[in-house]
Formats: sequence, C-alpha cells, structure tokens
Amino acid sequence: MSGEVAGGRTAISGEERPFLPGMRRNWLLPLYDPLTRLLGIRRVHVRLLGQAGVRPGHRVLEIGCGTGNLLLAAKRSQPAATVVGVDPDLTALARAQRKAHRRGLAVQLDRGYADELPYADDSVDVVLSSFMLHHVPADRREPAMREVRRVLRPGGALHLVDIGGADAHADGWIARRAHRHELTEGEVGGGIPDLLRRAGFLDVSETGSDARRHVGRFTFYRARA
Ligand SMILES: C[S@@+](CC[C@H](N)C(=O)[O-])C[C@H]1O[C@@H](n2cnc3c(N)ncnc32)[C@H](O)[C@@H]1O
Repeated sequence: MSGEVAGGRTAISGEERPFLPGMRRNWLLPLYDPLTRLLGIRRVHVRLLGQAGVRPGHRVLEIGCGTGNLLLAAKRSQPAATVVGVDPDLTALARAQRKAHRRGLAVQLDRGYADELPYADDSVDVVLSSFMLHHVPADRREPAMREVRRVLRPGGALHLVDIGGADAHADGWIARRAHRHELTEGEVGGGIPDLLRRAGFLDVSETGSDARRHVGRFTFYRARA
C-alpha cells in the first residue's frame, strides 16, 4: 500500500486474463460515467461510504475500481486516508488517473484481479466493492472474497454493494443484463451473505437496499475480517 503520488500511479504487473469490463465492451467505456451518473450511482457510492466510515489514517482499497468514481469520492471525503484502487482494465484505470490528476487527489491505482490481490496480508483497514462482484466469474468469487479477507487486518471490514439481493428478482433491464454473460453467468445478489461466510468473514449483514424501477435492486452488505 505504498507509493502513493499526487494524481495517481498505475502499476502494471501480473499475467493477462479475460475479464468483463465495466460496460462489457471496451469501446463503450466512454459511456460508463455518463450512464452511471444518469442511474444515480453517485448516491449509491455516498451511501456505501457512509456505511464504511473511513477515518484519518485508514488504508482503503477498492476492488474493481473502474473509472475511479467511488475511489475518488472516498479520498475527497477523507483526505487523510490512503486510498488504493485495483482493476484489470488499464483503460478504465487511465481514466481514473486523469480524473485524480484533474481534481488534485492523491490515490494509488494498480492493475490486478480481485482473486489475486497484489497486497500484503493484514495491510488494509477498509475494502470497498461496488458493482464488481457480478463481473467476476462465478468460480472465482469465493477466491476473490478470500483474498479480500487476507489483505484486511483482523477487525477490518468489507463494504459491498451489488445488483440483486435475497428478496429481489432480477427485476430491471440492468439487472437482467448484468446476470447474463458467458464469463460471469449466474445471479450473485442473494448468494452474497453465504459466499462471504464461506470465505471466512464474520458478522456478515445485509445493511439495506435501494430499488430502482426498470433498473433493479442494489443491495448493501457489511462483513468483518
Ligand atoms: C460495473 S464496474 C464498477 C466500477 C466501480 N466500482 C463503480 O462503482 O463505478 C465493474 C468493474 O469490475 C472490474 N472487474 C472485472 N473483473 C474483475 C476482477 N476479476 N477483479 C477486479 N475487478 C474486476 C471491471 O474492469 C470494471 O471496472
């Protein structure tokens, strides 16, 4: 978690693997920020950050940070925290880096996969995951959550939001699309608490949800390492 510089840093390491980008197709990435703004995702990020309660000195990691909206909001809301984002998509990371530079926010951006995090054991206080888990292939979700637990210090917490939920059907077009891709088939929402418990987390709870007509339900979770 070292090497933070103003405007961000992108470390490139590890082998190339297939992954599902934020907009599913690389050429659609420029639409990611306008579309998510339209869908009110900023409000979801604010709620997740409120839940996380990042404090001065905290080391915060966002897995699947994409174009950096949550990551930058975290740094802006708590400048005395160390904020790191990891994502396999170099184009999205480059966008995040440009935004950090424009806003004068010092964050670290690394290329990597959630199931193979390039960080030491017990090195993070707070992990954030926002609409990332349904992008991970079904058989890599538990290894990814085990990695999150490994890098969290004992007592550190994961704060996660994703599409779906225990009492939610895939009731909107975004939700239906999100759960239909050869790389990541299978619904993620309702299974998240069990997944987190299997990965060794304690005090797993669903902390709330936010239903959007035509879009689907976003459900928030908290779990302790
Ligand atoms: C829908 S975007 C969410 C971006 C951001 N967290 C947000 O809330 O706006 C999902 C992100 O997960 C990333 N991703 C896909 N597979 C991943 C993996 N195995 N590990 C980490 N991130 C992954 C994608 O590249 C994409 O940036």
